[in-house]
Amino acid sequence: MAEEKIKISVSCASGVEKVTKSELKRLGYGDPPAILGGINFFARVSDVGRLNVFLRTADRVYIELAEFPAKTFDELYSGVTAIPFENYIPKDANIIVDGKCVKSTIYAVSASQSIIKKAIVTRLSDKYKVSFLPETGARYEIDFYIYHDVVTIKLNTSGAGLHKRGYRKKVWIAPIKETLASALILLSDYYKNPFLDPFCGSGTIPIEAALIATDTAPGMMRDFDFLHWKNAKDYKFDTVIEEAKDRIKRNNLPPIFASDIDNKAIKLAKEHAELSGVSDLIKFNVCPVDKIDIKEKNLTIVTNPPYGERVYDAADAKKCYEDLGFICKNREDWSEFIITSDKNFEKKFGKKADRKRKLYNSEKECDLYYFYRKIKENL
Ligand SMILES: C[S@@+](CC[C@H](N)C(=O)[O-])C[C@H]1O[C@@H](n2cnc3c(N)ncnc32)[C@H](O)[C@@H]1O
Repeated sequence: MAEEKIKISVSCASGVEKVTKSELKRLGYGDPPAILGGINFFARVSDVGRLNVFLRTADRVYIELAEFPAKTFDELYSGVTAIPFENYIPKDANIIVDGKCVKSTIYAVSASQSIIKKAIVTRLSDKYKVSFLPETGARYEIDFYIYHDVVTIKLNTSGAGLHKRGYRKKVWIAPIKETLASALILLSDYYKNPFLDPFCGSGTIPIEAALIATDTAPGMMRDFDFLHWKNAKDYKFDTVIEEAKDRIKRNNLPPIFASDIDNKAIKLAKEHAELSGVSDLIKFNVCPVDKIDIKEKNLTIVTNPPYGERVYDAADAKKCYEDLGFICKNREDWSEFIITSDKNFEKKFGKKADRKRKLYNSEKECDLYYFYRKIKENL
């Protein structure tokens, strides 16, 4: 018998929807339309595990439970009480409620949270015929979104955001989220040609590049909330991990170079690469950008340089952009994809970008500047 389809909602950073959509297409989920910050579509329950493990640029994977209009707390309460939570949530579940109210008559987030929690507890107590729910079991996070007086209720299957791959154990100055790093690489023209991140910090961009080049699923090393649920076997995690292992290809990959001026950054980046299983594919180097001496043809550079706002001030950032511009000068066979919040970046880099795309890095508005190679040597 064909498995029943459920509504899945995949969230992602704003500006990244197109990339997440292409990932879904490549994974065999058709061409669902993107909405701001996410994509909704129908899939099987068993796809939940696969989506969590394989998506590189998504933030979380949700099961959408209901959508209904509500302008009052009474309407909110009765709408939530009508949802068959008992199909998903056991009697001992540790129920967390989180969400947002945007442009709606109901605007109080914490009051909405309490009402939704009360409605869920009432529904489950009634269905399980108990007067008290101990909440000692697995975590079940219910997310609500009230937008223009329409309430959406979703079950978070991922738990912690999917950027938490499991390899980045320590923090560095202004690290980029793993999901955004992946999006930058997927937006670039990188396809198993030589690669460089000259401001690699804790190694996020080169590690994500190595995971992409080897077709290694980013979620193979982490935990998910759904794995602790009573129906965990429905998500077919073992089959997904088998598929993920089968897809890994590590042969004949051109080098991935990663450098940074700071030796502590490179030490950390090496530890992270080790944990992610790709350390043999990345050539790390302590090196200021102006001393980089790479002769590779058809290099793709994807990088997140200093923005001139924290440890490295505006003058340092300007010098970084000028130095990077200098090493890329006259390399018509190289491409560069650089994310920064500096609106005058192109002037300092010394070239006008072929394209720009607005993206948010930790809620800071940035642009990704695209400089495509003009000649392709045996690519
Ligand atoms: C925004 S951080 C990069 C963070 C990195 N993407 C990560 O996820 O950890 C910028 C990096 O540029 C490095 N940096 C600053 N000036 C540099 C220079 N002149 N040459 C090379 N690296 C430099 C800093 O040490 C820092 O690690």
